[in-house]
Amino acid sequence: MIELKQREVTDSFKGFSRRDFVKYLFAGSALSLATLNKLNASIYQNVTSLNQKYIEDESPDGVYWDALSKHFLFKDGLIMMNNGTVGPMPKPVFNTLMKYFRIQVTNPFDVYNFIPRKKEEVRTKLAQFINASPDEIVITRNTTEGMNFVANGLDMKEGDEVLLSTMEHPGGTHPWRLKEKRFGIKIKEVPIGLPPKNVDEIVSAFDKAITPRTKIISISHTVFISGLIVPLKELCQMAHEKDVLVIADSAHGIGMLDLNMKELGIDFFASSPYKWLGAPTGVGLLYVRKEAQDELWPTIASSGWDRHESARKFETLGQRADALTIALGEALDFQNAIGKRRIERRIKTLAGYLKRELNNIPGVKLHTSQDFYLSGGLTAFSVKGIDPQNIVNYMREKYNIVVRTIGNKEKGTYGVRVSTHIYVSLKHVNLFLEGLRHLVKRKV
Ligand SMILES: Cc1ncc(COP(=O)(O)O)c(C=O)c1O
Repeated sequence: MIELKQREVTDSFKGFSRRDFVKYLFAGSALSLATLNKLNASIYQNVTSLNQKYIEDESPDGVYWDALSKHFLFKDGLIMMNNGTVGPMPKPVFNTLMKYFRIQVTNPFDVYNFIPRKKEEVRTKLAQFINASPDEIVITRNTTEGMNFVANGLDMKEGDEVLLSTMEHPGGTHPWRLKEKRFGIKIKEVPIGLPPKNVDEIVSAFDKAITPRTKIISISHTVFISGLIVPLKELCQMAHEKDVLVIADSAHGIGMLDLNMKELGIDFFASSPYKWLGAPTGVGLLYVRKEAQDELWPTIASSGWDRHESARKFETLGQRADALTIALGEALDFQNAIGKRRIERRIKTLAGYLKRELNNIPGVKLHTSQDFYLSGGLTAFSVKGIDPQNIVNYMREKYNIVVRTIGNKEKGTYGVRVSTHIYVSLKHVNLFLEGLRHLVKRKV
């Protein structure tokens, strides 16, 4: 894929300057398809030559990451340290999005031509990216939809149980609340620590809660309140021994973690690639393990729901915004060009540094585990005597840093949450720490 893009670079493109690029941003979709191809080719060429410089280096230094961060389009020095709700698209993804919206404007009939093939290519890429089969991939709109497809599509009788953790996102709880109301299923909540001490604490809490009526565990992989990464592999091993299914709400997982469905052994896995992967908002992933597909009814039915022998039967959704799906493919290409292992390592290195330094600030309580296996790019904490909202406001006003408040005062989970994606530098993390030390001194 990258090779192909490099070949697309022509001599005429060599003169394309930064100013031209800025002009392009204002011109938006007015740029020709050829120009959009050339812009992307030049970006991949840059990533390839950077990689060549760091070929032996599993964990490149800040120079590498600073160079990559130029391929994002942040406005006015914005320091984006919140990948919640939505994250940014890198330039190649935005270009591809524009390109395919433009095709829809100029040649709508292409929807009959190469678009279906392109979408299947994205499904294959997505499958490779998470070590699954294309037959196990449902392209949804978001995590919430994926969670609903599973809660809605499983046969459960009155009194059958679903286990949730106490730190689920509404997108992961309400599908079950609806089923509870309609069919009388039982929801049981299993507490998890802030943070839990180790893998065993989490797995054994769920183990103890399972009864003969338990059908499924529905749990966040990337806990939005605490930044915990739930040990899905160990949880699935335990659950499967007891014939209990597992669905993970991994809204933040794709693009943050080097995912491997076969290794996790999970049955269902829902994610939102526009938080950490750099895809456009409105395109999502639901993985349905081959062996679990017969357990699930499609929620939406049009031609094919009763014919497809694969996860495609869960996706007969009528016409879609194809540009979003194809741009998702570009987001996968962009991360693949850097390397998903490298990305996870960088994200965790920055988060690890942040947590170590936070621990040295008086009054700080970390809500996130310091164990690299149980944490990722989300770090949450609170400071004794300081309102988290004041921290958030100060960081934005003083440094143009975006972080957010998270959690709930009554439940003791209220705090500040910081995301450390690859376009965040050590310098940015240090600015954040500088601001926090100042606030702690002033006790605001
Ligand atoms: C853990 C978790 N689950 C579900 C969601 C909902 O995601 P979406 O709105 O993309 O469906 C979020 C949103 O941030 C989340 O953090």
